[in-house]
Amino acid sequence: MTTRFETVQAELQAKPHTWLVTGCAGFIGSNLLQALLTLDQTVVGLDNFSTGYQHNLDEVQSRVTPAQWERFRFIEGDIRELETCRQAVEGVQHVLHQAALGSVPRSLKDPLTTNAVNVGGQLNMLLAARDAQVQSFVYAASSSTYGDHPGLPKVEDRIGKPLSPYAVTKLVNELYADVFARAYGFQAVGLRYFNVFGQRQDPDGAYAAVIPKWVSAMIRNEEVVINGDGETSRDFCYIDNVVQANLLASLAGAEGVNQVYNVAFNARTSLNQLFAYLRDTLGRNGVAYAREPRYGDFRAGDVRHSQADVSKAYSLLGYEPRYDILSGLEIAMPWYIQFLR
Ligand SMILES: NC(=O)c1ccc[n+]([C@@H]2O[C@H](COP(=O)([O-])OP(=O)(O)OC[C@H]3O[C@@H](n4cnc5c(N)ncnc54)[C@H](O)[C@@H]3O)[C@@H](O)[C@H]2O)c1
Repeated sequence: MTTRFETVQAELQAKPHTWLVTGCAGFIGSNLLQALLTLDQTVVGLDNFSTGYQHNLDEVQSRVTPAQWERFRFIEGDIRELETCRQAVEGVQHVLHQAALGSVPRSLKDPLTTNAVNVGGQLNMLLAARDAQVQSFVYAASSSTYGDHPGLPKVEDRIGKPLSPYAVTKLVNELYADVFARAYGFQAVGLRYFNVFGQRQDPDGAYAAVIPKWVSAMIRNEEVVINGDGETSRDFCYIDNVVQANLLASLAGAEGVNQVYNVAFNARTSLNQLFAYLRDTLGRNGVAYAREPRYGDFRAGDVRHSQADVSKAYSLLGYEPRYDILSGLEIAMPWYIQFLR
């Protein structure tokens, strides 16, 4: 049976659209860019390289045909500048707004910049997109919005209090999107990503996500530190599931817009399990890691357990995540080994 995602891809390829991807030099943005160009779409990209890289764009270029790359136009600029946002949305049908400063610890250290980029930047993008009358506006929300709500699995309308400045900004993103629908009739879709992983996720720096950080430590035979007792759990979501959710949300019908959705796989993996999965997958790919992890302190602002109910995205968007953590790691591992060595 044909899935909604297959139908959407075929429709886009038959009649290409024009897209804006903010944060296109980052992890998720560059994967969206690659997927769109592969479908022969026209794409404008906006990034200020604060946490993204030119080498991510170069890698996308190497993965698409010269004719597809010709359909990409890059603007180096900052979403904190309204005029830049206005230029970026000109002539665009769909906005995939990914640019933001991620990381809970970064936001604890520097809440002002996180707020300026994540809240001020998104407000600029909403204003620019509203005035340009784009067809769809999809933005990166976050599972951190569940905060201290103990319920599992996480269901969209049951959230707790944010546990970090980052979580506040992502909650405010949803509130602004909702107010834009009420006040201006501008319909947006928020995607609450849960611990995304895959190619081009930055392994370096103090704010690296757990999977690339541990894989690069293992490849270099360095120590892996687990925060807390290792029983903290997450719903790790492979990047291709996120790409699927973005395309489905962009072409959603009237019942699907002005909503927020969980984007995850709907499984729970503890950090201890993750450590074992990474070691095993690396081993199968010819990299042996014999060291045991060291257990450190719990990290401030972290949610203890996370797992998503994805039935809302399934019923309103047709979202059917194809990759669980193990199949995602299997695909991503050769990339990690090639690029992190
Ligand atoms: N990776 C995850 O697991 C995850 C989970 C939940 C939500 N998110 C959200 O998904 C989005 C993308 O995250 P990512 O993991 O790809 O992070 P990333 O850091 O790799 O990408 C973010 C991109 O935005 C760009 N950017 C930052 N500030 C900017 C500014 N002021 N102007 C223009 N560009 C700017 C960066 O240079 C970078 O290229 C973010 O909104 C993030 O909050 C990610």
